[in-house]
Amino acid sequence: MKVLGIETSCDETGVAVYDTDAGLRAHALYSQIDLHAEYGGVVPELASRDHVRKLLPLIRQTLAEAGLEVGELDGVAYTAGPGLVGALLVGAGVARALAWALEVPAIGVHHMEGHLLAPLLEDDPAGRPQPPFVALLVSGGHTQLIHVEAIGRYRLLGETLDDAAGEAFDKTAKLMGLPYPGGPQLAALAEQGRAGVFRFARPMTDRPGLDFSFSGLKTQVLLAWQGSDQSDETRADIARGFEDAVVDTLAIKCARALDAAGGDTPACDTLVVAGGVGANKRLRAKLQAMAEQRGGRVGFPRPAFCTDNGAMIAFAGALRLQAGQHDDASVRVTPRWDMASLEPVVSEKK
Ligand code: KG4
Ligand code: ZN
Repeated sequence: MKVLGIETSCDETGVAVYDTDAGLRAHALYSQIDLHAEYGGVVPELASRDHVRKLLPLIRQTLAEAGLEVGELDGVAYTAGPGLVGALLVGAGVARALAWALEVPAIGVHHMEGHLLAPLLEDDPAGRPQPPFVALLVSGGHTQLIHVEAIGRYRLLGETLDDAAGEAFDKTAKLMGLPYPGGPQLAALAEQGRAGVFRFARPMTDRPGLDFSFSGLKTQVLLAWQGSDQSDETRADIARGFEDAVVDTLAIKCARALDAAGGDTPACDTLVVAGGVGANKRLRAKLQAMAEQRGGRVGFPRPAFCTDNGAMIAFAGALRLQAGQHDDASVRVTPRWDMASLEPVVSEKK
């Protein structure tokens, strides 16, 4: 089954074709970062208009790279939420129209389910982690630990009480004068910084529980930055101190979640990590080491599939379409959408 995936929930236009027999056939991404940079954040109306401009050319490009004619598609998947309503409607409208014209089923995918399943997307079906496992979702809008009981059946174990980890990266970068979007730049700067010169708290790790809080960390960085010589070297050392604090905190909670997820049965041994912060090198290394030490396994998407992309939507949609699920023909999006309300994917047809 060849499924076209369309992602337009925020500021990236992503398109891909996932083939349930041959795997990922092609993908393309257009980022609007430059468009929004001068405003210091995403401007929803500009985002929608740019998706309108870029989506059809990207679909043509992706199909050409996959060596497919549009008529060879067996289904269409699109991000139906959560996200910016206008941006979502662009993808949903195009996906629905295409599916209608081709007389193939279409399905609205939950953006965070797309992220959550991205670590499985490049494994062959036999080698994929099988539920139950624990997923760490760390993006600009979410920091959640989820017990994946089955594909589509997600139980929230813990989440951030304030800022998401990616948001903390972005805000911390901004307060030290780094340009938008600061998260990846702060991470690059941390590579040059020295460990231990600045040490920040590992929030909420001194008490039981799986929730997070990152807003206080940002304030600690602000105070350290304001009280410093504000040199390039100091900025890098603070970036390193901040990154180490976030990475340690996430790793401590992941280990706890694996212990807790089994309930009365032995601890869970598989962790998957997804979302933009999952591209962070130090986080990947730390979680890898933690998993090895426990004799378990950790799965990540390739860094380009940690941030928003069409491949994860094509893949998540393909799993659902393959199980016989699809939506009716109306163009509907869900800007706020609880992942716990999703239908489980019960059987995978061949
Ligand atoms: O998943 P994503 O593309 O968008 C959301 O759905 O939020 O995640 C974007 C977030 C941003 O906050 C960005 O700063 C963060 O992921 N991010 C990183 C890195 N690359 C992206 N944070 C830390 N280290 C990175 N290398
Ligand atoms: Zn995302």
